[in-house]
Amino acid sequence: MRIAVLASGRGSNLQAILDAIRDGALDASVVGVFSDRRKALALQRARDAGIPAVAVSPSSFETREAFDAALFAEVAAVQPDLIVCAGYMRLLGAAEVEAWHGRMINIHPSLLPLHKGLRTHAQALADGVTEHGCSVHFVTAELDGGPVIAQATVPVLAGDDEDALAARVLDREHPLLIATLQLFTSRRLSLDGASVQFDGRPLRAPLRLAGMDLREMDT
Ligand code: GAR
Repeated sequence: MRIAVLASGRGSNLQAILDAIRDGALDASVVGVFSDRRKALALQRARDAGIPAVAVSPSSFETREAFDAALFAEVAAVQPDLIVCAGYMRLLGAAEVEAWHGRMINIHPSLLPLHKGLRTHAQALADGVTEHGCSVHFVTAELDGGPVIAQATVPVLAGDDEDALAARVLDREHPLLIATLQLFTSRRLSLDGASVQFDGRPLRAPLRLAGMDLREMDT
């Protein structure tokens, strides 16, 4: 499976993918890493791993549409089977979302549909939830609104601040993303319209990470 990664920053999720491939835990290759920020650490991680690293700067384009088209032309050139948005912090263009329907996923630091958008950990703390976590979902035109494939939960502890909670969630993002990608490499996941198909059946509730493995939830 040829994976293209979109990332705007640190790239720890990208690194988790690269490490899993290196360790033989994921039968895939990262064929390119793409960023809207020239200085993204994710690009350096790609270069260090000998992977093409491409920055496309939004300020070089007159419109968002032109930027998206240029970025996704670069992505398409490496012929990925799957695009993984791993900390890509820009809205995606409708045309690109449509073109990659069912072949583009995003990892988001909340238990969707709760806490979409930015500052998800602050949102969770403000809501007073006792459980928080992260989700992997197919990308659709609705921001953070695409069908959810899998989730991992963490407790919210007394005294948590945004950073403490973010670190606890990030720790689960990495195994969640790898376990989800393993399902893609074994062709167990697809998208039919708005319905996630798992082993050829509609998934009724997001898969849940238990330890390092994904399980179906009783509904
Ligand atoms: C991760 O927490 C990811 O879930 C989040 O950005 C962080 C990127 O970390 N993504 C979003 O908020 C997307 N809306 P990383 O660069 O170390 O992988």
